[in-house]
Amino acid sequence: MSSINRKVVLASPINGIPRADNFRLVESPRPEPGDGEILVRHIYLSLDPYQRPAIAGIHISAKKALEQEEAPSAETVGQVIASRHPDFAVGDYVRHFGGWQEYSLSDGQQTYKVDPALAPLSTYLGILGMPGLTAFASMIKLADVQPGQSVLVSSASGPVGSMVGQIAMQKGATAYGVAGSDDKCRFVVDELGFAQCVNYKAAGYPGTLQAGLPDGVDIYHDNVGGQMLLDALTVLRNYGTVILCGLISQYNEANKGQNFNLGPAIIKRAVLKGLVVYDYEDRRQEFFDLVAPWVRDGRIKYREDRAVGIENTGAHFEKLMSGQNFGKALVVLGDE
Ligand SMILES: NC(=O)c1ccc[n+]([C@@H]2O[C@H](COP(=O)([O-])OP(=O)(O)OC[C@H]3O[C@@H](n4cnc5c(N)ncnc54)[C@H](OP(=O)(O)O)[C@@H]3O)[C@@H](O)[C@H]2O)c1
Repeated sequence: MSSINRKVVLASPINGIPRADNFRLVESPRPEPGDGEILVRHIYLSLDPYQRPAIAGIHISAKKALEQEEAPSAETVGQVIASRHPDFAVGDYVRHFGGWQEYSLSDGQQTYKVDPALAPLSTYLGILGMPGLTAFASMIKLADVQPGQSVLVSSASGPVGSMVGQIAMQKGATAYGVAGSDDKCRFVVDELGFAQCVNYKAAGYPGTLQAGLPDGVDIYHDNVGGQMLLDALTVLRNYGTVILCGLISQYNEANKGQNFNLGPAIIKRAVLKGLVVYDYEDRRQEFFDLVAPWVRDGRIKYREDRAVGIENTGAHFEKLMSGQNFGKALVVLGDE
């Protein structure tokens, strides 16, 4: 095992879409755990859209903007390789905010054991992790989806979107998706079982969306914001529900959503509900107990977009924030 810890730090201010060269690799000696601490070897590093506003200091999880030479925060799954903490043993697998690096220390706070016998380790960062919990909160808690209802979701091939549709289907609803390529839409329909998926980058959108949904939908889960939300409102039934979850169309923009007009939400007498996944931390076990069996028996499908090696983290983040990822964005940092 290496005595060096490699981490990726911010190298220059980010303007617009983050680029790989906004970050650089630095090396330092691997830390040693003090009393009450564990040393974790990271196996999977989660890249998530919220990290873009968090780096800018404008996300609920961030107290301030990231300084140059600091590594972004991120959730990781890894293995304890040294322990001076009574609740953790060498060999335990844990999920915690280890950041963009290969090793980290933890004092046990917000550090949770994960069991590879119950689910593949990487899924604790994706469909059975924070993104999955987000979809559960949306469909089960906020929208309270019912059999026979129809649900539309944007970024439908991503971890949140794919789980929104699949949980809705497990509850007897019909899922419809919007995604950014024909390949993504094929996956959403052929693999995940959505009734329909429209490529919003193809000619004729949003007419194609409206033509495919002549009766409208009961629920729209919004991962994107801006024009995507306005277009989706045109197919929302009167008194329909909108779950406001993400604004990925605006994370890279300096002037976020200026002149944005929600008049169509009035016309539709829409119920708008904002979702913050952190409110549902105490439901994580309930979520896991419901959804993990569906993953194990193959009813729930998922796709991951993996890069290998900490040195590729910045480029993989660029890919995510420019819509080029296809599935849950992960960096593989070591063997299981
Ligand atoms: N509220 C909460 O607590 C909470 C929790 C988790 C996630 N979220 C939000 O949920 C959304 C989905 O997250 P995720 O983890 O499942 O990631 P994700 O869907 O993999 O996010 C990346 C995808 O977003 C789309 N995208 C990227 N840039 C875009 C742009 N400029 N305009 C429109 N679409 C763009 C692309 O899909 P297409 O090619 O299909 O456009 C891209 O593949 C994000 O907005 C995230 O911030 C919110």
